[in-house]
Amino acid sequence: MCGIIGYIGKKEALPILIKGLRRLEYRGYDSAGVAIIEDSNIKRIRSVGRIDNLADKIKNEKFTGHVGIAHTRWATHGGVTEENAHPHFGCDEKLVIVHNGIIENYREIKEMLGNKHTFKTETDTEILAHLIENNYTGDLRLAVEKSLTMVRGTYALVAMHSDHPDTIVAARLGSPLVVGVNTDNGHDEYFIASDASPILSYTKKVIFLDDNEVLEISGGKMNTFNIKDEIVQKNIEEIEWDEAEAQKQGFPHFMLKEIFDQPRVFVDAIRGRYDLKNGISFLGGINMTEEEMHSVNKIILIACGTASYAGMVGKYAFERLAGIPTTVEVSSEFRYSDPIVDDKTLVFVLSQSGETADTLAALREAKRKGAFVRGVVNVVGSTIARETDGGTYIHAGPELAVASTKAYTNTVAVLLLYALQFGRLKRTSLATGERILKALLEIPEKMTKILEQSDKIKVIAEKYKNTKNMMFIGRGVNYPVALEGALKLKEISYVHADAFPGGELKHGHIALLSTDFPIFAIMTKNQLYDKMRSNVEEIKARKAPVILIATEGDVGTKDLSEDIIYVPETMELLEPLLNSVALQLFAYHTAVTLGRDVDRPRNLAKSVTVE
Ligand code: G6P
Repeated sequence: MCGIIGYIGKKEALPILIKGLRRLEYRGYDSAGVAIIEDSNIKRIRSVGRIDNLADKIKNEKFTGHVGIAHTRWATHGGVTEENAHPHFGCDEKLVIVHNGIIENYREIKEMLGNKHTFKTETDTEILAHLIENNYTGDLRLAVEKSLTMVRGTYALVAMHSDHPDTIVAARLGSPLVVGVNTDNGHDEYFIASDASPILSYTKKVIFLDDNEVLEISGGKMNTFNIKDEIVQKNIEEIEWDEAEAQKQGFPHFMLKEIFDQPRVFVDAIRGRYDLKNGISFLGGINMTEEEMHSVNKIILIACGTASYAGMVGKYAFERLAGIPTTVEVSSEFRYSDPIVDDKTLVFVLSQSGETADTLAALREAKRKGAFVRGVVNVVGSTIARETDGGTYIHAGPELAVASTKAYTNTVAVLLLYALQFGRLKRTSLATGERILKALLEIPEKMTKILEQSDKIKVIAEKYKNTKNMMFIGRGVNYPVALEGALKLKEISYVHADAFPGGELKHGHIALLSTDFPIFAIMTKNQLYDKMRSNVEEIKARKAPVILIATEGDVGTKDLSEDIIYVPETMELLEPLLNSVALQLFAYHTAVTLGRDVDRPRNLAKSVTVE
């Protein structure tokens, strides 16, 4: 998730590009850069940090060119440094590109390019720039097209070459690109961006590039080509959104957008990290020898809030697949406890932001005690990512709503891959490994089926909007799902909610039940189904309203509740990846119905950097 903006027209490009970057900053903000064609040379300036830093750096520079590209980065390969920031040059600094996505075979390409090219950064994008340079024989579009036949991965790409000062070439596979067309009333300008938000103050006329299309704007003319270099006719569409809506891609809130991002970013969390044939996963970030991995006799997962509930799902996976005793510790408790940690303990610190103060302190404590400490983090280059001796990015992209959604599912995904990695070393069979990976690959489609029920879930949320208290119950791997469901509801709707394992209900909590105390029960088809069903019967007998999450096709649930959200079946360990999506939607719609500030709930902060 990075932000791209390009401009070609009669106006000075720089102010348009900087303004555009500010609109796109929500897509990534660890570094930014701009390149403009000035008198047949390319002038480039980059900076670490927010767009403000770049704008400051540029303040005293003179840029007058009318063609340029710019980028705000969300690091995937290589740390957050100025060197790694886009745009990236080839060797002779005549060709420059910005890129969003991941080039999976960048190492192979680098090897193929060999000593002929000198690389200055750790990024996959720079290698793509050198590949295009290598294939360039005077026509930029043809060089881009040829190069793209050689890469594996995803991209939104915009390129310029100083030999063609009135040309911009763009291409898309898997990452969005929108082209703004402003050719009315004497204007003669085009904008290329990751989404429409930076374009809308100039024009509402756009074309959306489709996968495997290459766009060339040259000498004031725009043409789109397919991979066979044939011209494709594109329709110009009129966008109705305003600028703020466009950032959210038409969703009313960032939270809803992020909930709907999940099927797509889930793929980013697992891509290139497994081998289906051998039923194995391999996260290089574990940074341990096989011998060290075998020596691990205890795993501790440390986190706060939603990340800790993702950790609880991870606990089930590590114990079931790898047979390694695993505990989950809330960071603020761990740091002040007397943890029994030694050089056979593996600690994972889980954090979306990578900056949570308590989690950071716990990390330092675990390191001090000699454990292997690894991070599972979303924000690249964050403090936790830097201070751990390895770990894995979850690739959820920027999460802006305070309530965490896609970072939760992607953290669970990465923990499942780690559990399988240890599991296959220890006791998980090839067949089980294969089954888990196949089931993981089906998750995005199944998530989409739940997202399609958003309106139905909204009706249920509206029905219960006057509820003052709600209880969530689940068993086994769905107990953390219940905890996360209750936390989501509290965080954004301010409805009091608690969660318990289904079997605990009768040990006190059942005293609360009444006709105006609804219970949300997660009762999907797994080995604890019958136990959970008995718990729900107990609730029904006390006449408390029940909302159910049940497995598609489980017709036997109809007599238990009028309000049932059906979710597709999956392997038990993977159920949280689906069931949580339904609960996120329930919390979201409840908050909207109650008129809450969904993206910025009262008293909360996205990243808690104080103790
Ligand atoms: C805050 C947020 C929660 C989040 C928790 C942990 O409390 O409001 O939504 O789960 O921090 O954040 P982290 O960035 O460490 O995952």
